[in-house]
Amino acid sequence: MCGIVGYIGKQAAAPVILEGLSKLEYRGYDSAGMAVFNGETIQIKKSVGRLKVLEELTHGGATMPGNVGIGHTRWATHGAPSDVNSHPHYNASETIAVVHNGIIENYLPLKEKLVSKGYQFVSDTDTEVLAHLIDYYYKGNPLEAITKVMHRVQGSYALGIMFAEHPDQIFAVRKDSPLIVGQNEDGCFIASDVPAILKYTRKVYFIENQEVVRLRADHMHFYTVDEEEITKEPVTIDWDADAAEKGGYEHFMLKEMYEQPKTVTDTLMPRIKDNDIVIEELGMSDDEIKAIKKIFIVACGSAYHTGVTAKYIIEGAARIPVEVDVASEFRYRKPILEEGTMVVVISQSGETADTLAALRESQKLGHKVLGIVNVVGSSIAREADNVMYTWAGPEIAVATTKAYSAQLIALYLLAMKFGKVRGQIDDATFIDMLESLKKLPSQIEMLLSNKERIQRFANRYVGAKDVFFIGRGIDYAISMEGSLKLKEISYIHSEAYAAGELKHGTISLIEEGTLVAAVATQDALFQKTLSNMVEVKARGAFVLAVTNEGNTDIEKAADYVIYIPKTHPYFTNSLAIIPLQLFGYYVAVGKGCDVDKPRNLAKSVTVE
Ligand code: AGP
Repeated sequence: MCGIVGYIGKQAAAPVILEGLSKLEYRGYDSAGMAVFNGETIQIKKSVGRLKVLEELTHGGATMPGNVGIGHTRWATHGAPSDVNSHPHYNASETIAVVHNGIIENYLPLKEKLVSKGYQFVSDTDTEVLAHLIDYYYKGNPLEAITKVMHRVQGSYALGIMFAEHPDQIFAVRKDSPLIVGQNEDGCFIASDVPAILKYTRKVYFIENQEVVRLRADHMHFYTVDEEEITKEPVTIDWDADAAEKGGYEHFMLKEMYEQPKTVTDTLMPRIKDNDIVIEELGMSDDEIKAIKKIFIVACGSAYHTGVTAKYIIEGAARIPVEVDVASEFRYRKPILEEGTMVVVISQSGETADTLAALRESQKLGHKVLGIVNVVGSSIAREADNVMYTWAGPEIAVATTKAYSAQLIALYLLAMKFGKVRGQIDDATFIDMLESLKKLPSQIEMLLSNKERIQRFANRYVGAKDVFFIGRGIDYAISMEGSLKLKEISYIHSEAYAAGELKHGTISLIEEGTLVAAVATQDALFQKTLSNMVEVKARGAFVLAVTNEGNTDIEKAADYVIYIPKTHPYFTNSLAIIPLQLFGYYVAVGKGCDVDKPRNLAKSVTVE
């Protein structure tokens, strides 16, 4: 999504803003801009294109002198990517400048009202409405004008605002879209996300909904939408700077793939105590766990795929009915959540608009929501009734890998905890499963060491047009993620199919040489999947198989086999996904794609 950086202090603002925006590029954007007070007026420079264009336009910020400024990288929602639609937006006299992340849902009626009062618009954006509306309410008191706008505006916004008549302050405002502020001895900062200001400070404040922050060079004040001053506690970020750098890998995605053993360990081990699973943050007693009648899992993208995996495991291990839905469907279909239904939302960023809306919809219907979230202090983390963190650390690559793996671990733990409490898993089986979980990090490490072999295989498919991933049960969920990894970073069309469903139409697409990746880790379904492999092979497919060590029968039907180490059938997703992540990665690298920042995608989809 959009990136926001603001600065006020002793240093020149433009270089600080450019540096901060560069750390937010991963969020996906199509244009960039800055506003800096030069001692007399607000100077604004903005353009469509990468941040480099803005850097060149301003000679690294040198042509924009001044110690007070706001900057922005835009991911278009209203109005095509263009210079004029780029942020900052400003009022006619250019005395008020605004940068915005989010969507103003009632911008059209507000725009009509402002036009009727003589305001002229130059862009197609919803954000420009904010600039003119602040102007409309501004009578010399910035805070008063801002809070009046907050009462009028509907939708989501993270704002950076500056006033030419008040060059000793900048403002940060938040509703739904994430925003933080921080301070060091040189000044105060606004940012959409931690990496933007980690270089300057580790102590940050997460702005809550409907809060306003007035930042001066040496201090900050926090207010409610009713202009009441409040105090807030800072959060100390313990991510080291390298965590947001590539650490020697060619891409963040590869680095994060190699962090998966640690991600799994960090998410798993703190919750295993004396051979039992302890999920303190679950906030549920054993009786409450026993009383669960149904679980609804809601998420988007890869997080949704972990939910599909979890359905098979929770229903198998705990015998609780599970329904899984993509958040963008759930939130609008008037979901029927009967008494005793537990809702689980899964989100790496904790800011995905559809998932956040699904959380709110569930709570409105009177149900408690458990969030499985990676980003501490994110909106979903703060609004869920209980939060189970996936301690994967900052995930920069748009295509998720380590956070996905951590989500799986969280869901395994939940399934086992529920199964044990509800008497569905005996002690011996429980201990065996715990031992299998503890082996996953080293098994993932072993699979990652296979990367050269996968790279050689992937190089054969950089020219592929269609790739299919098939599987049954948990293998179908694995296929979904394998397919998404390939298509979102290599731009090759791919789809995942329930292996048993292929013959009901899609098999007609299989031609000579079509690559079909068959995932066959569920021994109970192995023979069935084997038949499906024979079916596609008979129609000319080249079959890549991913299966458990020892299943050598598969070599009768597969052209290329990747074996994964033995583990409990419920946990094979954590292993089978590794070669599929590597496959997608190396095909994308072979095609010269922008692996960490794929076209059209954003790391955090904070708009509908
Ligand atoms: C996964 O590689 C994609 N980047 C995307 O599908 C992502 O999983 C989805 O947007 C959900 O994001 P979240 O986990 O931050 O809510």
